[in-house]
Amino acid sequence: MKDFKTLFDEIGGTETIEKLVEAFYPRVYEDPVLSPLFEGDIEEIKRKQRMFLTQFLGGPPLYSQEFGPPAMKQRHLPFEITPLRAQRWLACMKEAFKESGLDQNPASALFYDRLMQVAAIMVNSPE
Ligand code: HEM
Repeated sequence: MKDFKTLFDEIGGTETIEKLVEAFYPRVYEDPVLSPLFEGDIEEIKRKQRMFLTQFLGGPPLYSQEFGPPAMKQRHLPFEITPLRAQRWLACMKEAFKESGLDQNPASALFYDRLMQVAAIMVNSPE
């Protein structure tokens, strides 16, 4: 018997992830500090992020089923990720938490903390 909920369940599963990702990427593509890195198709990056976040929060391992090990640090190495860019990424995410209503969920603080940890690890260039 399953007597615990994953963070994925706690935040409202697929529906919440979809809203969050929809609110997040338009901000990223419009951010002057981040936009030079995002030249690819916004629909494809949204699709990847929905799969990744689902898995990251303990939902079905959708990302790995298609792409293998997440290895996020390694996959970000081609991009110059400075401390400022990590800060801007997180700021866009914070706004997306608000727009999607996720900020009202008691589990959102834990989710955001985990994103802060991963964002810090992704930094690979000085300012
Ligand atoms: C710290 C600042 C970050 C920057 C500047 C950044 C930037 C990028 C860029 C430029 C791409 C490639 C976009 C493309 O293919 O068009 C990417 C891909 C991706 N990022 Fe980030 N990222 C950051 C942090 C994060 C964090 C914290 C996560 C997860 C919690 C994340 C998850 C992903 C995923 C899942 C992909 C798709 C990987 C793939 O190609 O399979 N990123 N990111």
